[in-house]
Amino acid sequence: MCGIFGYVGQPANVGGAVLDALRLLEYRGYDSWGVAVGDGASIAVEKQTGKIGGAAVDFADTDIGFGHTRWATHGGVTRPNAHPHVGPNGRVAIIHNGIVENFRPLRDGLVASDHAFASETDSEVIAHLLEAEVDAGRALAPALAAVFARLDGLNAVIAMDIETRELVAAKTVSPLVVGSGPSGLTVASDAIALAGHADRVLYLDDHHLVRLAHGGLTLFDRRTMTELPAEFVPLEIDAGDASLGGYPHFMAKEMAEQPAVLDRLLRDGGDQIGALARAIGGANGTFLVGCGTASYAALTGAYLFSRIARHHVNFVVGSEFKYHEHFLAPGSLVVALSQSGETADVIEAMLAARRQGSRLGALVNAARSTLDRMVDLRVHLGAGPEQCVLSTKAYTAKVAALLLAAHHLADTPERGRELVQAAAAGLREMLDEGWVDGVRNVARDVQHANHLFVIGRGLAYPTALEAALKIKEVSYVHAEGFAGGELKHGVIALVQPGTPCVVYAPNDETRADILSGAMELKSRGGHIIGIGPTPDPVFDVHLSTPDVADAAPIVNALPAQMLGYHLALLRGNDPDKPRNLAKSVTVK
Ligand code: F6R
Repeated sequence: MCGIFGYVGQPANVGGAVLDALRLLEYRGYDSWGVAVGDGASIAVEKQTGKIGGAAVDFADTDIGFGHTRWATHGGVTRPNAHPHVGPNGRVAIIHNGIVENFRPLRDGLVASDHAFASETDSEVIAHLLEAEVDAGRALAPALAAVFARLDGLNAVIAMDIETRELVAAKTVSPLVVGSGPSGLTVASDAIALAGHADRVLYLDDHHLVRLAHGGLTLFDRRTMTELPAEFVPLEIDAGDASLGGYPHFMAKEMAEQPAVLDRLLRDGGDQIGALARAIGGANGTFLVGCGTASYAALTGAYLFSRIARHHVNFVVGSEFKYHEHFLAPGSLVVALSQSGETADVIEAMLAARRQGSRLGALVNAARSTLDRMVDLRVHLGAGPEQCVLSTKAYTAKVAALLLAAHHLADTPERGRELVQAAAAGLREMLDEGWVDGVRNVARDVQHANHLFVIGRGLAYPTALEAALKIKEVSYVHAEGFAGGELKHGVIALVQPGTPCVVYAPNDETRADILSGAMELKSRGGHIIGIGPTPDPVFDVHLSTPDVADAAPIVNALPAQMLGYHLALLRGNDPDKPRNLAKSVTVK
């Protein structure tokens, strides 16, 4: 949450370059944005509320600058609350991702010494504290080390000193990467923003502090301020990953990429998935942990291991995990599922698991992310960057990886591969224009609904939860997913004539019961949208999916993704940047 980017190098249109980099980081937050550059001996700042869109900044060419795209935590979405924040004397400025949990006492202390604040943010205290250190004669690097040590929470900060024309950056959990290229040095929340600036990248650890100056880069251990060797690796970003590639939105592009993502997982994932399956088989209890969409993939995994491998795995939502840590033992295995590998609630869960001596594993899309680097064993999903805030292709990759792992554990790996191949082929057929038209028609039918319900049983229950999340977060239609059997325990009270009810009816042992649930909904006037391989008279409309047995959660994700997408378009929403959301939730 919040994207930050900084540049020190050859004089150029730094303001424009920073703004372009912020566009690539906007998935991390789009409430407001701001850019600051060295303008001679002073810092020039431009800030605006709202998305960047086609905005431009009008700064002279310069050698240093940075910028921020915000997901508001402390303080409303206003210009003064947008970053960068400049120190009282205008010598230093900062950009910040995270929450300074102890900002209140820090701010009170500063106010007591006559500091006047321009914003309501927690972040501005950093600018004030830092400038006080620099004014007292400290260089920017030790000054930031001293200030950073006083901040509670998960934070990433980039600071600029206009007198020395340098940037200094440090982080705790919130990600930061440094790029090195022919025209200069860059630092950002995500390597994708380094594209076009850098050919090598350095992934910062929590004890690192880095100084970017015209003389080059210096890496410190911020606890001792001793110098460390900087170990850069080649930057592997495919320019196509950051572009729409002819699609109108990243959501459309990423939905369409799903079959190829499954092919890649089948081609490259075998060894890692086999190792994960063996670890689950040998563990003294396994917990699958994730947030939001990743949590529904994790719950799907619990069903898959039960029905395929006759093996119990536990499922816990990331933010609730710390309340379960008492059950962990040194032989336990905790496997986090995460697209970004940076979700704070998940990282915190893993830190708790590590404290208990458990083994750590991950299904992670972003290689070299915090999660990827902290675990003992990992499955790289290889889905490529997700630029849309909604998770689509990483979700199906997680479910496919868990299906393959369950079949490994059951000693039927070939069956797992066949099912994932069938799901990839099925998704390719569904992405055909005729099928998509069918979903578009459903979206037209339900676009004015206030509420929508989704039901599924067994393996389709977590799919129903995921479907409801996908639909609501992008369309803003209130959508809730339920276990089909729970209807009569309360939910049915909400169904009125015309209420859209999505019913997952796969050809498995749940079909008869879920269809009778659909009948109960229809008797109350519910408009039944059936999803599954076989039509049924109870359906008012049928969205057909291929019959792929236990791979059904993979193909069943697409109708809800597509319905959410078309509802968003019909309702005038931006599918890639839904309101109030951000990708990579690095705050708790
Ligand atoms: C929903 C969505 C979120 C994420 C969740 C976890 O479409 O994208 O619910 O799934 O924030 O994110 P990761 O997978 O990055 O840990």
